[in-house]
Amino acid sequence: MAIDKLNLDKLDSGRNTFADTVRLMTQFDLQPVTAIENEVYEFPWTPGIMSDCLKCGYHCYVYEVDCEVRGYLIFSTVLDEMHLLNICIDSAYQNKGYGKQFINWLINFAHDNGTKTLYLEVRVSNHAAIHLYQNLGFNEIGIRPDYYPAKNGKEDAQLFACELAWG
Ligand SMILES: CC(C)(COP(=O)(O)OP(=O)(O)OC[C@H]1O[C@@H](n2cnc3c(N)ncnc32)[C@H](O)[C@@H]1OP(=O)(O)O)[C@@H](O)C(=O)NCCC(=O)NCCS
Repeated sequence: MAIDKLNLDKLDSGRNTFADTVRLMTQFDLQPVTAIENEVYEFPWTPGIMSDCLKCGYHCYVYEVDCEVRGYLIFSTVLDEMHLLNICIDSAYQNKGYGKQFINWLINFAHDNGTKTLYLEVRVSNHAAIHLYQNLGFNEIGIRPDYYPAKNGKEDAQLFACELAWG
């Protein structure tokens, strides 16, 4: 099922206060961003990887509330495809609606910029994220075996896609 603009408006009716801002990440955000990354993930991206994301042309955004970085996301684009590479909310603020709001923002951004398909991978054990993506219109389209490092070897990724309608 493709998502159209009308549905997006409905989806976006969750939390949204004027103090919430999505803005481009800068070098000055690397400290809070890597602090969140290290705290949240068992296998975090290094500060060097984060810095390279800013330099190599990936699209990096932060979710800010009252001038405090609460989360970030990073995606790449190729023609009419977008690939979400990382989304992370500060663990102190998870399950409060920020992640949903941030993905809704991304879907709107993708839609407005002519994206046809939005892809992402997620650990098969990450039930919170899978629940979120499925609720927002993503469908599982495959499995990438041994995609992630894990304590006892590797973990599979579920590949999700969200089809966006134009017009
Ligand atoms: C996954 C993540 C981005 C979701 O953001 P969030 O702000 O915590 O999620 P929200 O509060 O917006 O909740 C969205 C939905 O997920 C559910 N959810 C959130 N945390 C959950 C949890 N720990 N267990 C079960 N469900 C959860 C909420 O109930 C909500 O469902 P609903 O819309 O049916 O009410 C965030 O938890 C996170 O950063 N996790 C660690 C990093 C990560 O796993 N990133 C994704 C990599 S693919």
